[in-house]
Amino acid sequence: MKIAICASEGAPYCKSGGLGDVMEALPAALSRIEGNEVVLFLPYYYKVKHNAAYITEKVAEFRVSLGWRQQYCAVMRLTNRADRVQVYFLDNEYYFGARAGAIYGDIDDGERFAFFSRGCLDAMLALGFTPDIIQCNDWQTALIPVYLKAVYYDKLPKTRCMYTIHNIEYQGWANASFFDDMLGLPWEYRPRLDMNNSVNVMKGAIETADLVTTVSETYARELMYPYYAHGLDRVLAGNAWKLAGITNGIDTNTFNPETSKSLPAHFNSETFVEGKAKCKAALQEEVGLPVKPDVPLMVMVTRLAGHKGLDLLCYIARRLMWESDAQLLILGTGEAQYENFFKDLARQFPEQVSAQITFNLGLADRIYAGGDIYLMPSKSEPCGLSQMNAMRYGTVPVVHATGGLKDTVPPCDANGEGGLGFTFQSYNADDFYAAIKRALNLYENNRPAFRALQKKEMETDFSWDVPAGRYMELFRNMLSW
Ligand code: GLC
Repeated sequence: MKIAICASEGAPYCKSGGLGDVMEALPAALSRIEGNEVVLFLPYYYKVKHNAAYITEKVAEFRVSLGWRQQYCAVMRLTNRADRVQVYFLDNEYYFGARAGAIYGDIDDGERFAFFSRGCLDAMLALGFTPDIIQCNDWQTALIPVYLKAVYYDKLPKTRCMYTIHNIEYQGWANASFFDDMLGLPWEYRPRLDMNNSVNVMKGAIETADLVTTVSETYARELMYPYYAHGLDRVLAGNAWKLAGITNGIDTNTFNPETSKSLPAHFNSETFVEGKAKCKAALQEEVGLPVKPDVPLMVMVTRLAGHKGLDLLCYIARRLMWESDAQLLILGTGEAQYENFFKDLARQFPEQVSAQITFNLGLADRIYAGGDIYLMPSKSEPCGLSQMNAMRYGTVPVVHATGGLKDTVPPCDANGEGGLGFTFQSYNADDFYAAIKRALNLYENNRPAFRALQKKEMETDFSWDVPAGRYMELFRNMLSW
């Protein structure tokens, strides 16, 4: 099968969050399946263009129509990738190459990613690559199914398109004038993109894609409710027949406690007691906490954003520190109110709390390895990857049972049996507190059971093999229509 994957980020080239991780591992997993040819389209951002490690050659150039504009686009083929995925970067100096800052957040993001979306389709034609399937992701590439149906239908008549939602909070809103001025679409497509007299490109994708997926089964069901859908619940309910959830995996080569270069000691599910103890001691030292092997170390690696459930943690943090002989370590950056809260907390409890307000992938890895308990109380979570990273490293998760957290962390009882972690059902600080207490109790009062739980987590398969198979199943379904 010929599969084209289009996304606004993909590790290791460019990544701002979980989407970038998925766009590293999913194409690779699909390319390992016999008979597949996988190509990945990404923007040629400043940081990619000026990174000497990525060797490219120009293989096509053309102009992309955006309303009355004709914008130059070159297709740069990456020549030194080790696996079977063919990566193409779309180059335009004005939209991507000349902007050295963050990859999103410019005033003309709508125009930049309209260019990228249409450019991907033009690139396929220019390269003579006729995909069976196009898989595209989030608002940045939401115009691809729209253009495919409205403008490129006769050039790519057999190509089917899957649209995947990783984060429904960002939908790609624009003024109503964007439709005529920028998109150049036939007028009959206007209602599909229109929402409250504005343009919403994610709505356009949901209405026009052949299939819509999201990144866990529970989240696919949750999206039927206004609480989760950020205004798109009725649009999604109207398209529920073509909505499916596929729970992400993680890249088990990148996240591997046996080989990770960031770790001071290596371990697997047989040797983790000793290995994790070394990692824990080194970690406590690194972040300025007293080195105490038997004090439970609770950790969190997260963007400091509201929906990650930090309000719950703020509410209980002091009580937790007073009442328990435990340590808490947080790594992340984000909203000032949370950064300040955790810095204050660390000042108040220097023996117990460390706040690492920074972005550091190596330290993140050492935290997954050195922690005992991983906290993830997200208010909503489409999938979430770090709970899986934590379990792969034998760090026991405490999570809010929502979205992908519910699908990847089946609940265990107070003895650590029957599941993979500790969960709470309703979004409430006391329930979170009780779940943390269950984890701490097990650690303190029944260490063998805690170890057994860690071992079970480490032996669980979180690789992309199963989800990649599910993607293939849905791709085949689309092709049979
Ligand atoms: C987004 C979601 C996260 C998901 C990731 C990859 O970042 O917020 O839950 O794991 O995308 O799909």
